[in-house]
Amino acid sequence: MDVLEAAKGRRSTRAFKIQDVPAEIVEKLIEAARWAPSAGNIQPWEFIIVRKPKIKRRLVEATLDQMFIEEAPVVIVVCANEARSSQGYGMRGKTLYCIQDTAAAIQNINLTAYSFGLGTCWVGAFREEEAREILKIPHGIRPVAIVPIGYPAEAPTPRSRKPISQIVHYETF
Ligand SMILES: Cc1cc2nc3c(=O)[nH]c(=O)nc-3n(C[C@H](O)[C@H](O)[C@H](O)COP(=O)(O)O)c2cc1C
Repeated sequence: MDVLEAAKGRRSTRAFKIQDVPAEIVEKLIEAARWAPSAGNIQPWEFIIVRKPKIKRRLVEATLDQMFIEEAPVVIVVCANEARSSQGYGMRGKTLYCIQDTAAAIQNINLTAYSFGLGTCWVGAFREEEAREILKIPHGIRPVAIVPIGYPAEAPTPRSRKPISQIVHYETF
């Protein structure tokens, strides 16, 4: 699949079919994620793969009732290892690089999933402490995004984008 086509065609999916997502495909998504760029190649990402309905249900609560998370057969929670990034780059590593690095990994997951005919949604609105407790995430690791993945049961209309003229600056801001 053409990369621009994937970047433009991917949509946030919030309704999923009951159809399962095989483990081999999930592995490919993780494979795509781990090839993302990262500051100093520190690779501060950690992935929690959730399939158990009981855990997904608790994640729904942590996300202020984003029910579609429960519908997805698999959910990947992408975390940033702040401790590892701060060892390399201090405060900038902890507060900026590890978030950028994990964001790149998340988008690799989204685009690769799309290329397999899967839908995903980048869920960032959740109570962090609650997610940490549910998933037993240790100190120094920060959950960044909850990504439900499944075969789409909807074809969302594309949301608008700002025109290029409004966001691009030449030479100086
Ligand atoms: C950092 C971040 C956090 C987001 N959090 C949520 C969320 O909590 N729930 C949700 O339904 N969508 C969430 N989204 C998805 C956005 O709403 C969506 O990407 C945007 O509306 C554009 O639509 P599109 O992805 O279909 O192009 C989030 C996206 C990003 C990048």
